[in-house]
Amino acid sequence: MLKIRDVTRRFGANTAVDNVALEIPNGQMVGVIGRSGAGKSTLLRMINRLIDPTEGSIIFEETEVSALSGPALRRWQRDCAMIFQQFNLVPRLDVLTNVLLGRLNHRSTSLNLLGMFSREERAQAIASLERLGIAQASLQPAGTLSGGQQQRVAIARALMQQPKMILADEPIASLDPMNAKVVMDSLQDINLRDGITVVTNLHTLDTARAYCSRIIGMAAGKVVFDGAPEDLTREAVHMVYGADPDGDEISEAITSTSIAASRPRKSAPSLTPAFAST
Ligand SMILES: Nc1ncnc2c1ncn2[C@@H]1O[C@H](COP(=O)(O)OP(=O)(O)O)[C@@H](O)[C@H]1O
Ligand SMILES: [Mg+2]
Repeated sequence: MLKIRDVTRRFGANTAVDNVALEIPNGQMVGVIGRSGAGKSTLLRMINRLIDPTEGSIIFEETEVSALSGPALRRWQRDCAMIFQQFNLVPRLDVLTNVLLGRLNHRSTSLNLLGMFSREERAQAIASLERLGIAQASLQPAGTLSGGQQQRVAIARALMQQPKMILADEPIASLDPMNAKVVMDSLQDINLRDGITVVTNLHTLDTARAYCSRIIGMAAGKVVFDGAPEDLTREAVHMVYGADPDGDEISEAITSTSIAASRPRKSAPSLTPAFAST
């Protein structure tokens, strides 16, 4: 269980995350939605401790994550792997090495500097790449791959960390619908088969509906919706996204990539969306 207790993050006078309280049981697949600037990335980054809360605490199992430092902090950052919109691979290094970099947090700095990976680690990296369907690209420089392939490499690298949780910050925002689907299907597979908690920021509502059993809606740093996709009514969507500049309600079509999950979500999916996308 991850507990976010009354967490606030300010940047100067700007409150990016405003008194957020959440509990995320292990094994959930959670989608975080909201407009640009709502505080989604800041929330994820605080969980991973890329940035620190101004107020409040973050607790995982019995550990106060927000108070960790040194090796314990690095262990936590290994336990909750991050996936980024822009993949964050080392473009000139080959794919296999990029995946092996996921092991670095497991090892001492002196071993890291030697740049040596064991046979077992290499086998594990290739297995991760095979699982993501890109083992054939192992020896290519990561920068020569398509965006969709690079994101799969990033997921393989995350798996090498043997994480307890995967935090994905708009993992499909730079991808075309076909690659977006492959990446979301992969995250879903990891969640369902390995039981790893996935918390993913998503810019598209339909993707959150299709893949996540729980949706958290943020607006102006606050959680304004937290529930099942079935409960995300037109009114709730309005709370999250507000109205457009003309005062019209935002259409679900605006935030749609029209991708569908290959498998059903964990809980029973709703029969029809709250309102149809046109
Ligand atoms: N490093 C930072 N320095 C200053 N302001 C920031 C920083 N990161 C985020 N913000 C501000 O915090 C708010 C929330 O940003 P962010 O968490 O990136 O939202 P989202 O991911 O939902 O688009 C925005 O107003 C943004 O400008
Ligand atoms: Mg963001």
